[in-house]
Amino acid sequence: MQKIETYQKIFIDYLEKYAVDREPMNLYEPVNYILRLGGKRLRPVLTLMTTEVFGAEAQLALNAALSVEVFHNFSLIHDDIMDDAPLRRGKQTVHEKWDLNTGILSGDAMLILAYQLFENYESDKFQSLAKLFSKTALEVCEGQQFDIDFETRNDVTISEYLKMIEFKTAVLVGAAMKMGAIVAGASQSDQQAIYDFGRFLGIAFQLQDDYLDAFGNPETFGKQVGGDILENKKTYLYLKTLELGSTSQQELLLKTINDSDLNDEEKVSTVKDLFKESGASNATQNAVKDFTDKAFKVLNTINISEDKKQVLRLFGEQLMNRHV
Ligand code: IPE
Ligand code: IPE
Ligand code: MG
Ligand code: MG
Ligand code: MG
Repeated sequence: MQKIETYQKIFIDYLEKYAVDREPMNLYEPVNYILRLGGKRLRPVLTLMTTEVFGAEAQLALNAALSVEVFHNFSLIHDDIMDDAPLRRGKQTVHEKWDLNTGILSGDAMLILAYQLFENYESDKFQSLAKLFSKTALEVCEGQQFDIDFETRNDVTISEYLKMIEFKTAVLVGAAMKMGAIVAGASQSDQQAIYDFGRFLGIAFQLQDDYLDAFGNPETFGKQVGGDILENKKTYLYLKTLELGSTSQQELLLKTINDSDLNDEEKVSTVKDLFKESGASNATQNAVKDFTDKAFKVLNTINISEDKKQVLRLFGEQLMNRHV
């Protein structure tokens, strides 16, 4: 196994060479723009690492890793349209820099480009990868629809929320790892275990994303801080405030969210105070830790060497403590 930074470098070198240099420019320019904006590249790194965990060379998984990253970036273009987000990775979102139609169609093209990358694998592996990809991509759509539906519902439960984030975010993290296992020819049971490890890490990751959306540093976070509050997202922070807060805190939250007399800044700052004072903010941090621990428990059941487990644990810990 190599260091996390080494996998990152291998992937970025490969990505640099992948430019879609074709006409029409207005279709492909946004594709290259979003793919070169940076980002943590965590999903492709997980694909490459998993391939080595199961005894094959990371290079063999580069096209699968790229596919996962292209799909992820497609989902971000459409997600930013749906969430009315101005900023992504510290830069203008695609629909802001170009327009809505460009965001829709370039996103569609990326979904197909992602799928096309599996053509680099021979038929057995192609089939397994494509099957996993189709299932995962559909689940991401389902998760995204739940997320949007929840904006206008006032009776969302924690368990509905957890299912929603499992679908919109965690299954792709699980799939990224399972693809590495498929490329390496790992057993079905190892494929399933590493998928579950990734899925639990993915849930922890989205909980932390919700936390950072409110409490991240605007200088470094790269997205609009408070965006979830302004979009009335039913995040863990929000749901836990309704569960743990006093009656007056609960009432103030509901009133603030629907108060059209408040400007964005006032809204965000009042709601953030409620998240903290109600104990929801601490509860979210605890949940991040709980789901990371669940991932580590699954990891212990996999039949791989201790030093490989240690690299994956380190990755999980870094995700849990991330600020961007
Ligand atoms: C953002 O994913 C979307 C979520 C699932 C929270 P990342 O936080 O991995 O985004 P980048 O790729 O690093 O920008
Ligand atoms: C993103 O969830 C999930 C997908 C992109 C599929 P968010 O809407 O929370 O992601 P960010 O915060 O915009 O990155
Ligand atoms: Mg979003
Ligand atoms: Mg969203
Ligand atoms: Mg978010």
